[in-house]
Amino acid sequence: MSLPFTPDPCDGCADRIICRCLQVSESQVIRMITRLELRTVHDLTKYTGAGDGCTCCHAKLAEYLEKFSCEAAALG
Ligand code: FES
Repeated sequence: MSLPFTPDPCDGCADRIICRCLQVSESQVIRMITRLELRTVHDLTKYTGAGDGCTCCHAKLAEYLEKFSCEAAALG
């Protein structure tokens, strides 16, 4: 007897919110970094609004910039 398939609990989840103040999602942040080749948190704030509130997401935004702007540069 096989066990029933258990779907991943995150399968139906909405996109993860990175900036709670401005409700900016992970996919929005990654898309803008890669499409516009953004390099700074200031740029991300300008184009997505992320980070324009309490600023507690800035460290996270910087991590995304470090990871995905490098990928964009490598692809370009
Ligand atoms: S969580 Fe991003 S500005 Fe507050």
